[in-house]
Amino acid sequence: MNQKLNQLLDKQKNQYISKTKKSYEMQKISEKYMPGGSTRTTQWMEPYPFYADNAHGSIMTDIDGNNYLDFMINATSLILGHSSEEVKNVLNTQIQKGTAYSAPTDGQAKLAKLITDRTRSMETLRFTNSGTEATMMAIMAARAYTQKHKIAKFEGGYHGTHDHVSISVSPKAEDLKESTHPGILQYPGQPKSLLNDVIVLPFNDIEKSKELINAHREDLACLIMEPVISGLGYLPLKQNFLQFTRDITNELDIVLIYDEIQSYRLAPGGAQEIFGITPDLTSLGKIIGGGLPVGAFGGKEEIMETLNPSSNNYKLSHAGTFNGNPLTMEAGAAVMSTLTKDKYTNMNSMGDSLRIKLNSIFDELEIDSQITGIGSLFGINFNSNKIKDYRSFINNNNLLTKVLFMGLLNNGVLMQTKNAGALNIKTTENDLNKLVGLVRDISTEIKSNL
Ligand SMILES: Cc1ncc(COP(=O)(O)O)c(C=O)c1O
Repeated sequence: MNQKLNQLLDKQKNQYISKTKKSYEMQKISEKYMPGGSTRTTQWMEPYPFYADNAHGSIMTDIDGNNYLDFMINATSLILGHSSEEVKNVLNTQIQKGTAYSAPTDGQAKLAKLITDRTRSMETLRFTNSGTEATMMAIMAARAYTQKHKIAKFEGGYHGTHDHVSISVSPKAEDLKESTHPGILQYPGQPKSLLNDVIVLPFNDIEKSKELINAHREDLACLIMEPVISGLGYLPLKQNFLQFTRDITNELDIVLIYDEIQSYRLAPGGAQEIFGITPDLTSLGKIIGGGLPVGAFGGKEEIMETLNPSSNNYKLSHAGTFNGNPLTMEAGAAVMSTLTKDKYTNMNSMGDSLRIKLNSIFDELEIDSQITGIGSLFGINFNSNKIKDYRSFINNNNLLTKVLFMGLLNNGVLMQTKNAGALNIKTTENDLNKLVGLVRDISTEIKSNL
């Protein structure tokens, strides 16, 4: 089976190479100046990435003139689609007035109000330039507030690239031990001492998580988690597990941090609104910057007061040359004001019907698979086990994943390389029919090569 599928994948790669000659040349030039030719690991794909020229709505066009129906939309961030009029208008105005000041602008307060008004957990917030900084600062605020140093996170949980969350993010199957803790370092030379401070828990396993949290309860400042796991095809955590994490952190005075950098697009108040759970702190990113670099963290006022230089509780400095950049603030405010409740409802119900259609393809073809996701986020997984945590997710069949990804790409549909994706408000029924039709055709070809 593998031989035939590998031949199919080679054929697909050759087809891609023949369509992306200018991108290949650009990649060779870029490789001279940047490792891997790029400045972002997630821009890499085999055999090389295509280079973007422009993008409008749901369509991205590369420098060879190929069009892609874009379900990646810059890692789910462009919820109004590419080059939206709403964002372009406010950027055009702001750019005439200046691009960065050392003084605050009214744009900061405007976006902060839009977010705090709709997000139950966020009484006050601070802006950052990325999601990585948002989770880093949320953890630092939890530490400053509790005056404790350990943090708990989940195996397979991604929260950006800083060291304390870079433990057991994507360990190889062969390195996994029976227990999740102590965790696994992400790169050689990463300080082993981090393993003492970062407690790694298994998703959806109440008993083991309870045991580990209790064992470290005296030193734990926070538990950081996503309610919907981006790296596992947008798997929503089970409601009783989410409730357990809220209850135990309340009971032990551990700060519960929700990383809603991706899941914030699911409802006006994020996934926490859908699940009816209020964390102590929340970190955000992606959609709230209107397509410009952004992050934010916020929550209970008494925790956030640790960042207030005029408060007696001031404990934590938070600088950043471009924090609250006026362009980002205006673009973010334009997006958040456009996102009325009906927009979420519409995108989410399109996501529901997409998942039903995708499921029925694989049922018909009798290919082991699981369609994961919630609302406007979805993932296609070739897996014979029920996905419930990192360990079950990494049983996904890599070869089938690559063949589907490459097949879609060659036919003008861009997904994340693990075949997860996101809708945007410009996504149409026709777009979804195109995706479903291609998934059916490519999976039929896969079936005939199994
Ligand atoms: C869940 C989650 N947390 C944190 C981050 C880091 O955000 P950024 O890439 O803006 O640093 C990401 C980015 O993909 C993410 O998906």
